[in-house]
Amino acid sequence: MTSEPHDAQLMDQAVAAIRAGRLVGMPTETVYGLAADAMNVLAVASVFEVKARPHFDPLIVHVADRSQLDTVAAEVPAPAKKLIDKAWPGPVTIVVPKTPAVPDLVTAGLSSVAVRMPDHPVALELIRRCQTPLAAPSANRFGRISPTTAEHVRAEFGSTVDVVLDGGPCRTGVESTVISFLEPTLPPVILRPGGMSREAIEATIGPVWDIDQARQSGSASRVTDSRNGGLASPGMTMRHYAPRTPLLRIDRGAEAPEGGRAGLLAFEGEPDAASRGFVAFEVLSPRGDLAEAAANLFAALRRLDGLGLELIAAEPAPPSGLGVAINDRLHRAGEEEEDEPL
Ligand code: TXA
Ligand code: MG
Repeated sequence: MTSEPHDAQLMDQAVAAIRAGRLVGMPTETVYGLAADAMNVLAVASVFEVKARPHFDPLIVHVADRSQLDTVAAEVPAPAKKLIDKAWPGPVTIVVPKTPAVPDLVTAGLSSVAVRMPDHPVALELIRRCQTPLAAPSANRFGRISPTTAEHVRAEFGSTVDVVLDGGPCRTGVESTVISFLEPTLPPVILRPGGMSREAIEATIGPVWDIDQARQSGSASRVTDSRNGGLASPGMTMRHYAPRTPLLRIDRGAEAPEGGRAGLLAFEGEPDAASRGFVAFEVLSPRGDLAEAAANLFAALRRLDGLGLELIAAEPAPPSGLGVAINDRLHRAGEEEEDEPL
């Protein structure tokens, strides 16, 4: 598929920008990315600079076909191959050993690389036309709420990013699931819950672990390849996806906390926020549908964040399927917490 005719000129500009080592706002099915030529070290360096992202946090490399995967992955173990046969293009990122072609800056010096094939015609067209894999983190300043519309990207970066391709609102709404295949003697490990649920992954490749299971087995550093640098699991150490307004997680149906104008982020149901003392509310999915709730999550958080409230109180999603990813994002958006090092 190609983009609409009125977008053709913008697509040409985007291709030219990537080739010139500049950055492009790129729609994907999960969230918008800030894309750069993954093989151009200077372009990748400017991704870190524009996002104010620490260099120890590696980027995901986006490919449009299997031959591009082979240029960045030194090895694709059988279970990873089975998963991508089923799930690509789609919201799952595999962590596998990297080839020397991938600049160390992309992988933060790790010997592994995270790769995915996004399920969005505009992203796939951009990658194909650039004829190079694209490194793309979510297009937000480090730690902030991820963008799910082109407007969010423009609001975040203004003229610093001169081309933003508009692919409409993101269908999935939470980032891809990141899963490590680095340790062949262990089940694959989900490093970050995301747009493909654990249940859907297990239906394809059998049992996988989450990061807590890897921690408990004492092998978490092996699956994140962090044993040499002594790093925690990259990108999972700190406050993330965070609004400027303080966010507090509350039980479902709880009253507004005392002492300030509070907004409610509800998972489902009828808005009964006013009777509970909230001055504003968002309901992620009135009918309690996890996919709909995930797709609405970041835009709803942004709207509440724009109201000048003193507090956002967030109710959890049910803890299965995409609810795991939603709750993970709410957890990280909340009060400052250090994750245990691996
Ligand atoms: O859906 C997505 O994945 C979006 C869209 C734009 O594709 N991208 C995204 O990128 O969420 P970012 O940079 O915000 O998150 C990438 C995550 C981080 O948690 C990072 O630590 C992890 O992937 N990651 C990247 N390379 C890794 C590696 N070699 N080993 C372990 N984790 C890695
Ligand atoms: Mg991000």
